[in-house]
Order: sequence, then C-alpha cells, then structure tokens
Amino acid sequence: MSVLLDIVIDNSAGDSGKGKVVHHLLKSGKYNRVIRGNAGNNAGHTIYHEGKKFITHLIPAGVFWGIKSYIGPGCLVHPKSFLEEIQYLEDNGLKCRDLVKIASNAHIVTDAHIEEDSKDTKIGTTKRGIGPAAVDRYNRIGIQAKEIPELKNFIVDFYSELFDCQDKLYFLYEGAQGFELDIFHGDYPYVTSSHTTVAGALLNGFSHKSIKTVFSCIKAFATYVGNKKFQPEGEIFNQIREIGQEYGATTQRPRQCNFLNVSDVMKSLNINDPDVLIINKMDVLQQLDCWKIIEDSQVLDLKTEEQFRNYLKDKFKSVPDIRFSYSAEYI
Ligand code: IMP
Ligand code: MG
Repeated sequence: MSVLLDIVIDNSAGDSGKGKVVHHLLKSGKYNRVIRGNAGNNAGHTIYHEGKKFITHLIPAGVFWGIKSYIGPGCLVHPKSFLEEIQYLEDNGLKCRDLVKIASNAHIVTDAHIEEDSKDTKIGTTKRGIGPAAVDRYNRIGIQAKEIPELKNFIVDFYSELFDCQDKLYFLYEGAQGFELDIFHGDYPYVTSSHTTVAGALLNGFSHKSIKTVFSCIKAFATYVGNKKFQPEGEIFNQIREIGQEYGATTQRPRQCNFLNVSDVMKSLNINDPDVLIINKMDVLQQLDCWKIIEDSQVLDLKTEEQFRNYLKDKFKSVPDIRFSYSAEYI
C-alpha cells in the first residue's frame, strides 16, 4: 500500500481556474485517482474537454480521463443534484457512472437545507443548502451518504479505499472554492462552510507524508461572488468582467472584479505553502493593457506586463515555481 497526493487549491475567492489546471494535470497519465474533498454543488468548475465546454459541480474531473473519482468524506452531497450531474455527463458522452464513488461518511444536503438556505440575504450564498447541511453535520444530527438508498451503488468506505488497496495510488485532489472563502481563514462571515486549504484536503484521511506537490491558483485580477461590496467604482472593473466572462458557473451571477490583492494572496501562500503558483487569465489584462495590483490597500500601477510579472515573482518568491497562464480556451 502506498498513497501519493498532489493537491490543487485556490489562493483567492474561487474561480481561479482549478478546473482547467486539474484537467491539464490529469492529461499526464500519472494519476490513478481523483478526489473532491470539500463542499458540494455550490462549486462550479469550467472544463474544456475535446473542444466542448462542461461545467461540473460535484463530480471530480477524473471522469474526463476514465480515472476512478471520489467524492470524499469532506463533501456535502445533494443526492438528486448528484444523480442529475451524472446524467448530464453521460448524456454528453462521458461514461462516468461506474467511475464515481462517494465516501460513506460524506454528508447529505436535504431539500430542507436548500429551503433554509434560500432565505439567506446576508452572505449571498449559492442557495445549494451548504451552510445548513454543515450545521447539521457539526451538530451531529446530519445524515451520512451511506444512509441514502439511491446512492447505494456509489458508496464506498474511503478508509479501505486508501489503506486496504494493494495498488500504488496517486491521487489528485481537486479543491473547491478558495482561500478567501475558507471558514477559518477567509473574510468571515462572507465565506463558505468548508476548509479550502491544504489542511482541508488532508481532512479526508490522507497522511501529511502522502503530499508530493501542492499546486495553487489565482487569476491576474481578483473576483468575488456574494453580498459584500467588493468591486470599486470604475469602468475598468466592468471591462475585466466582460473580457474575462466573469459570471458564476453555478449561479450565473456577475462576479465582482478588482485588481489582484497581493497582500491577501500572501496570507494564503503563507498558510498553504504551495510548490507551484499558477497565475491564470493573463490574457484579460493583456487585452486591457492594465497592470495594476493592490498592496497594503494602495493601488500600484506596474505599467507593463514585464514589470507585473517581475513584481509578482519577487513578492511571491517563497513559491519555487510560478507560472503565468491564459484562459481555458487557450490551452
Ligand atoms: P455557499 O457556499 O453557497 O454557502 O456560499 C457562501 C459564499 O461562497 C458566497 O459568497 C458564494 O458566492 C461563495 N461561493 C461558494 N461556492 C463558490 C464557488 O465555487 N466559487 C465562487 N464563490 C463561491
Ligand atoms: Mg468556480
């Protein structure tokens, strides 16, 4: 038995291209397992596969490559939405019904949770019942996935999957949401109800020694979806949204946009200590030829792409490997 783990997380408020990065990493063929291990179908991962656009919410991207894919103990599953997502992928030519497994101790989102979440006016949740389901889990009155008959064929004991298997397992962890939305470290209360950190990945049952590489993503600018005021005044921010097509993959809400906040990213880098940082959607700033960032609440105009890149490489020099990248369509 041996388990190796690479982790993909997001250092901002989600939507920084984890789906793209995971899809790309899986192409290498080195992984034989994929896992989603936090949150539920509040997430939305946009994935381009063989020229076609897919949006996944709960199902790990391993299904695009025929890789066994887990919804881990850290997840919250709404059974009907899960089954519909399987059907959507199957209808679009992806044989995934036999590849996806749900940890028996993942928790269930009920219709009552969704009903309760629909009353939220404070946080601006995705209304997928995540907060109320997490409350019940921690209040020890929740329902575990193994109790749901419709999920019977998908349920596995994740501990045995990890530790009773004779094969060498190489997992890719597909994080959801991002650091600013972390329940402990994010901008509380404008956060989600799960752990979006490297520690959150380990909570699913992995040993810290299993970690090989931590990949983390940001965009060249910042976005946020929810009720706090995030986008400053100025046409440039609407332009960023339109060029970047920054609309929620789950709720279609316009994402609020701002310049990249270097101080916020530093906090995530300190806590998660990634090996690789991917700075996505550089093409959006290229189109605008606008190379501004925020540091210590001040806007800095770095004037050129070269200066922008050098500035970030210097600021984030604790990360050994920094890569600048482009929108999904450009891969
Ligand atoms: P909840 O996770 O639905 O409870 O929503 C809590 C906050 O997290 C809201 O501001 C949501 O817009 C945000 N959020 C939840 N999931 C995502 C995501 O996948 N991407 C971006 N924001 C998200
Ligand atoms: Mg997203």
